Amino acid sequence: MAAGKAESQYLHVLSAFLAMEPVDSVISLARECSGGSLTESVQRFLWETCVKAAASGNASYAKRLLKKLINEVELEKSEVLDEVYEEYALHMSAASKEDTLVKENIRITKFISFLFPEGLYKHPSCPSSRKLVVPLQCSLNMLEGDTGCSIWPSSLFLSEFVLSYPELFTDRSCFEVGSGVGLVGICLAHVKAKKVILTDGDLLTLSNMKLNLERNHLNYEDELLKQHGEAESTRVKCIHLPWETATDSELSEYRPDIVLGADVIYDPSCFPHLLRVLVALLRGPTKRDNGSLETERRSPAVAYVASVIRNADTFNAFLTLVDQMDLSITDLTEELKPPYELLPYMHSYDRSSVRLFSISSR
Ligand SMILES: C[S@@+](CC[C@H](N)C(=O)[O-])C[C@H]1O[C@@H](n2cnc3c(N)ncnc32)[C@H](O)[C@@H]1O
Repeated sequence: MAAGKAESQYLHVLSAFLAMEPVDSVISLARECSGGSLTESVQRFLWETCVKAAASGNASYAKRLLKKLINEVELEKSEVLDEVYEEYALHMSAASKEDTLVKENIRITKFISFLFPEGLYKHPSCPSSRKLVVPLQCSLNMLEGDTGCSIWPSSLFLSEFVLSYPELFTDRSCFEVGSGVGLVGICLAHVKAKKVILTDGDLLTLSNMKLNLERNHLNYEDELLKQHGEAESTRVKCIHLPWETATDSELSEYRPDIVLGADVIYDPSCFPHLLRVLVALLRGPTKRDNGSLETERRSPAVAYVASVIRNADTFNAFLTLVDQMDLSITDLTEELKPPYELLPYMHSYDRSSVRLFSISSR
């Protein structure tokens, strides 16, 4: 039992390192492995298993972690491992590229590990290793046009939701608006959604998303291939879909069972367009030319939208428009909150800040 606990604590440290959590947070998780102090074996784990073996490819992050580790061990008046000093010296001699990375908007790769607790061992979405590790290329800069290349808390929440309730998504046709880095789509593919249609209005975001699908070994169909008549059977599609210009006839092609959106409720000027897109996607069966009704959907379509409410007025403006556009919205946060934390090591992710809504046609 005690060995199992220690193993899971070390797994949290490694997962936090790979997800590039703040170094303070990684060190505090490391302390938990040894009852509070940064013992030799904890230092060795950070040096050997995290920095040396699992290096995330971001040398300046590893350097910051080593610096923090050395500072804290010295403050404790304990011995810093020679190997830790040597590794830090190696990183010191390489010029720091961190500032350049942020300035030039160069992307880094974070590895998001969803850790399935023992109780979920037989769960349909639980891999045999009990962890699903998703590499994601993203930006260090959340703003300045790189919004869609960052990982936002609502997509972490929606991903936990998808993995916790696979039965809602398996064999369903799913359509995401504002997909960003593509994390939710990767989780949808993992639970075997029938179709995964990922969309974004920003072209740079879309190309970053495609790269992430490739890194996760997912074949996707993009619009260019479609024009050449290839890749028809691919389950994942990536589509450039700015809400402002998406036409009703374009949207009526998809008829998804489920629409998803993470952190897309923040810019009031986009709300009428976003809601028009939702209305078109959630619309019930329409008549075919021969007068019969389309019956492809098993049940009425629903949208699951996760959001951090940063400004109450902005959110109320969204609710008013939802009502005017004949949609109904329900807060499902308490009812459908993922029952297990699949990202227990990720202290930077405040799960309680995210609300989950369902939106459907009235
Ligand atoms: C805050 S980010 C959230 C990204 C991702 N869903 C997540 O939670 O990590 C908002 C996303 O919506 C996309 N977006 C914003 N306005 C849009 C619009 N008018 N049309 C289409 N996509 C838009 C952005 O490009 C970005 O990817």
